[in-house]
Amino acid sequence: KRPAGAPDKALAKPVTKVGIIGAGLMASQFALLFLRRLQVPVVITDLDQGRVDKAVAGIRSEIEALVGKGRVSDDEGKRLSALISGTVDKADFADCDWVIEAVFEELGVKQQVFAEVEPHLSETAVLATNTSSLSVEQIGAKLAHPERLVGFHFFNPVAVMPLIEVVKTPQTDDATLATAMRVSKDLKKNAVITRDTPGFVVNRVLAKLLGEAMHAVEQGSSFEDVVAAQRAFGFPMDPFVLLDLVGLKVGAHVLDTHHGAFPDRFFESPALHELAEAGVLLEKDAKGDPKGIDKRARKIV
Ligand code: 3HC
Repeated sequence: KRPAGAPDKALAKPVTKVGIIGAGLMASQFALLFLRRLQVPVVITDLDQGRVDKAVAGIRSEIEALVGKGRVSDDEGKRLSALISGTVDKADFADCDWVIEAVFEELGVKQQVFAEVEPHLSETAVLATNTSSLSVEQIGAKLAHPERLVGFHFFNPVAVMPLIEVVKTPQTDDATLATAMRVSKDLKKNAVITRDTPGFVVNRVLAKLLGEAMHAVEQGSSFEDVVAAQRAFGFPMDPFVLLDLVGLKVGAHVLDTHHGAFPDRFFESPALHELAEAGVLLEKDAKGDPKGIDKRARKIV
């Protein structure tokens, strides 16, 4: 029996080529996942060729690393590397049947990138947004076909975290939702259908957790005590490492959205904004692993 709200699986449309808008870290992580699990061509786009080339080279070197670790065979590595390509020409998305964006977390930017791509797509293509805290319905407000837009929210690190929040707007049609559920399954992720409410489900909890951790420091606790308390309580990751992983700007944006939507329940964090602006929180070792709080961050908070 189908769970409540789940669409008929038979409506899912086949995905034979994936288009990714945005060539940042998150987008590169999806690209690798789509390549490995769907084994279909993946094309990645951004504003300038330099960013696109850098992302494609980065994905190819991730594939080589997987080959080096014996997780992917030599042959498969070669096949996957040949399946990834980059472009700045949105017309190259014409034969993509699944297009997902991971661009800057700003409503106007997300609306704009979809507006640029939509005219090039076939009628059956599905559009997905990885927004963490914007309204999916508003992102689709300028689309000719908002019924084919769905939220598809990954968690960091994309390769490891098992959840995808599939966000249904009042317009999302059943074929789009069914396709998103099928794609999640093919990616070997667990999908949960959520409503298009601020923070969906997970970020409401996470914004509280990370916001309170920042607020405790702003109120005079040391970073180390907050880390020790959350660690001892059993959370898998130090809250500041998690903030760094998510991205300080994304974290600050998520907090703002929650404060805007539920001002009586969520704090703003001026300190997190300052940290995000300065781009500092953790000190890293030569390998890039966190080794403590950066001195400059201590001065800010
Ligand atoms: N990329 C790829 N793989 C990674 C990775 C990364 N960044 N970090 C860890 N892994 C892999 C390891 O290679 C290892 O794989 P293996 O078992 O096949 O060898 C596996 O994950 C486990 O790694 P560790 O032994 O280092 O395991 P840990 O016990 O330290 O777990 C963790 C790592 C799963 C990342 C854990 O620390 C965790 O669950 N952290 C919380 C992460 C979280 O809450 N993410 C959500 C962020 S919110 C978000 O993204 C939404 C946005 O909208 C804000």
